Amino acid sequence: MAVYPEHVALNLPTDRTYEKRKTKSLRRQWNHLSKLQKNCIYSLTAFFCLTIFYILLNTPDDPVIKTRNEESILLKSVPNSKPYFNDREIRNGNYQERVIEHPKDADLEINVNVDDFKPNRLMEFTGPTTLRQKAVVEAFQHAWKGYKQYAWGHDHLKPITKSHHDWFGLGLTIVDSIDTIYIMGLKEEYLEARTWIDKHLQFDVNKDINVFEVTIRVLGGLLSIYHLSSDKMYIDKAVDLADRMMSCFNSNSGIPFSDINLFTRKPHSPKWSPDSSTSEATTIQLEFRDLSRITGDPKYEISASKVSEIVHNLEKTDGLVPIFINPNTGRFRFSSTITLGARGDSYYEYLLKQWLQTGKTIDYLKEDYITALQGVEQHLVRHTVPNGFLFLGELLNGGKDFKPKMDHLTCYFPGTLALGVHNGLPEHHLKLAEDLLTTCYQTYARHPTFLAPEITYFNIQGENSNDMYVKADDAHNLLRPEFVESLWYMYQLSGNSTYQNWGWRIFQGFQNYTKVLNGYTSIGNVRSATDTRPRDKMESFFWQKL
Ligand SMILES: *[C@@H]1O[C@H](CO)[C@@H](O)[C@H](O)[C@H]1NC(C)=O
Ligand SMILES: *[C@@H]1O[C@H](CO)[C@@H](O)[C@H](O)[C@H]1NC(C)=O
Repeated sequence: MAVYPEHVALNLPTDRTYEKRKTKSLRRQWNHLSKLQKNCIYSLTAFFCLTIFYILLNTPDDPVIKTRNEESILLKSVPNSKPYFNDREIRNGNYQERVIEHPKDADLEINVNVDDFKPNRLMEFTGPTTLRQKAVVEAFQHAWKGYKQYAWGHDHLKPITKSHHDWFGLGLTIVDSIDTIYIMGLKEEYLEARTWIDKHLQFDVNKDINVFEVTIRVLGGLLSIYHLSSDKMYIDKAVDLADRMMSCFNSNSGIPFSDINLFTRKPHSPKWSPDSSTSEATTIQLEFRDLSRITGDPKYEISASKVSEIVHNLEKTDGLVPIFINPNTGRFRFSSTITLGARGDSYYEYLLKQWLQTGKTIDYLKEDYITALQGVEQHLVRHTVPNGFLFLGELLNGGKDFKPKMDHLTCYFPGTLALGVHNGLPEHHLKLAEDLLTTCYQTYARHPTFLAPEITYFNIQGENSNDMYVKADDAHNLLRPEFVESLWYMYQLSGNSTYQNWGWRIFQGFQNYTKVLNGYTSIGNVRSATDTRPRDKMESFFWQKL
């Protein structure tokens, strides 16, 4: 199960002139911003994702409040937005250590007193102001209360049996949600989470973990909250964790093994295969690079970047990659599926975001992304019968067969496309983004629960009158955040309030059908409002959705 990564902060420039322009349109602000941000977009995923609903749900009829929130999210962002060094320096070995300066007023003294909680000067979040925002924060607090009462310190809450679930035993829910807590301005919850991380989060556990999952959820979570709070405690934790994971790169090829034991530091392949998932191997670079740039220690970035270079040099199908890659040979398993869903998805996303993170200095990342897009348009894009909805299918058996199937995971892609267009990539990608977004919305709106299933199949032959259908085994909803993340990007970049309204309707679907007495639960069946089959689990990525 590949999960789309959510964490890592976004750095955008601060510019006083924006304050004077409050009344100008969103689009104009963004146009202006794109000039300023050339070297400043830094790392991207989660900071967007976790704020999705929260930001998305301004009431459209309240322009003043809207502007305030735009400011807080777009402008009052991370303080240290300049890369500490550029990529040429790294390649030439002139990688200089830099002292990290922590702003004095970011000294939170949070161990002392709730009232001492002062967000960083550059990061003032005012808390919820609109009715929709308040509803989302209430949802968060409801989930937090259940987690605190029945699963505190464990990975996941099981809200129905009032118990917990541990996967890696790393308090995933706390680390995954602390940046959301910060942005929501929830002081008490922030203190609880920070204290737990400080006192109880430790990594010398004799347990196998998945490198990718722990990178995006835990390492990414720590980096994200560090960027928001400037609290160095999080970096100490992040360094300890990353050091324990570094030996995953000790393969013949440099392609990381999928799993590692954090105590013995011994890496290995998954039990069921000698291969690593392509998306997993290529979805750790933002986090490892960010850690190098924060600490001044190049080793994380060097190892992770090398993976991207290896994959860059492999032969592909018009830029598209098979979903398995072997750490010993450094080659793809060519018969494996090509998809923008599970195990393929974030390879494409991290091409773009790494290119942005490195100040658009590494050309092959952009070129591979653009080539892949041509491959997507050529091989994966199809339209449904009878209504012509666009979707991205899959190629099987080394590209010989086409399967009209799309994972919900693929619905991250419109947001990535829009971000690319915003940064100067081909305009026609935006049309693809809009069309795919519409289809993804349909995968929610067509069900009585207003929730999307994990996997949807599409009608391309005209064999019946339904554009899409869902198999019983695929009808579950795990509270995944990919689609709402895309809505967030699309709203931010277009100002079209339709996307906010879509987000609100989906939020209501979650309220009506996944909320239970002690939290929220994934469900087994989105196809019936009366038979949802609750699964008794609240995934840690649910918290980014909020
Ligand atoms: C907003 O988005 C919706 C859905 O894609 C579209 O139908 C509508 O035309 C858009 N509105 C504007 C003003 O662009
Ligand atoms: C959810 O409940 C609200 C309030 O009762 C209702 O207005 C809305 O239509 C419901 N949505 C769905 C998808 O059931």
